[in-house]
Amino acid sequence: MIYLDNSATTQTDPEVAKVMADVMVDVFGNPSSLHGLGVKAERLVTGARKVIAQALNVSPEEIFFTSGGTEANNLAIRGVTEEYAGRGKHLITTEIEHPSVYEVFQYLERKGWNVTYLPVDSQGRVNPDDVERAITEETVLVSIMHVNNEIGTIQPIEEIGRRLERYPKVLFHVDAVQSFGKIPLLPRQAKIDFLSASGHKLHGPKGVGCLYIRKNLHLPPLLIGGGQEQGIRSGTENVPGIVGMAKAVVLARQKGDAFIRDSANWKEAFLRQIQERLSSVIINGDVSREGGAPYIINLSFPFLKSEVIVHALEKEGVYVSSKSACSSKKELPSRVLKAIGRSDEEALGSIRISLGRMNTEEDLMRCADALGKVIPMLQQVMKVHNR
Ligand SMILES: Cc1ncc(COP(=O)(O)O)c(C=O)c1O
Repeated sequence: MIYLDNSATTQTDPEVAKVMADVMVDVFGNPSSLHGLGVKAERLVTGARKVIAQALNVSPEEIFFTSGGTEANNLAIRGVTEEYAGRGKHLITTEIEHPSVYEVFQYLERKGWNVTYLPVDSQGRVNPDDVERAITEETVLVSIMHVNNEIGTIQPIEEIGRRLERYPKVLFHVDAVQSFGKIPLLPRQAKIDFLSASGHKLHGPKGVGCLYIRKNLHLPPLLIGGGQEQGIRSGTENVPGIVGMAKAVVLARQKGDAFIRDSANWKEAFLRQIQERLSSVIINGDVSREGGAPYIINLSFPFLKSEVIVHALEKEGVYVSSKSACSSKKELPSRVLKAIGRSDEEALGSIRISLGRMNTEEDLMRCADALGKVIPMLQQVMKVHNR
């Protein structure tokens, strides 16, 4: 099997799994317990918090563990609308956010908030001028993702952060789930108030993530109970998950540069091959080294169906994705691909190929070979079918 669906989730690094198993068996205490085993567990959580804080160059007190990226996004956005409602009733986001952001804004609209969904250009990039133009006296929050999960486009977060400095009442949230541990983004440097990350996109465990909350800002909790995580996220800490996420961050820091460099080279070679072999292919997103994540590739084959391509590739032993994992079971054209100007036919025939640290150049070349084989076959079937 060649696994190329790493933006949906990654294989847990065996080193991560090992430390997690050790914690589960040996340090199973509740971090809130006063005895030795509880203290040991608490120390592990404290150590993990430090590792993640260091990676973001923030203080450990600004890191709050959650059950993943979805919860971190909900906590930030819903929390702001509760805590800072007195500042106004207007929110700004983009048309291409992950559902854990986009659907929250849709929900808030139903609750009476005014939301501006900023458009993106043909490569999937938001214009910082548009962000600034959308701000009104009533604006409370701007929420923009760093790397798009479907097409890999990198947003100009630092530039947007600089612009927002002129509007001290407006808070800035960034969903960095697809970039954390891969493409550097430091909250202080980029003037970010809230940043979401998740463990399972960087060879860490599923079910754990975190939210950076800038000092002096307060968010009301989504979950109320025992008062863990400074009262912002109650619930017994997922100690193995938290330790596993920190281990994944350490490994990403050691091996991440080589991964980014290699995957950028492999992506370019792959795209050259695909364009030579398949004239009908459309490449979605920004494929430049500065503008696109090297580990996400999105292709459209108009008039074919994504699911059919995904299953045909699976028969060749290659696992890719149709759209993002969270929406791949619905038969609607991708909102993200529509936002960059693709037609329904183009959007419905798209696949995402996403790399992780376990992949090799050979994997991507075998994927190119498999596409070179199955796409002409499927197109032939379509022709016969349409006659
Ligand atoms: C950009 C983005 N944000 C948020 C999430 C949700 O993260 P989690 O799966 O940890 O809830 C994902 C997961 O696909 C994502 O790609």
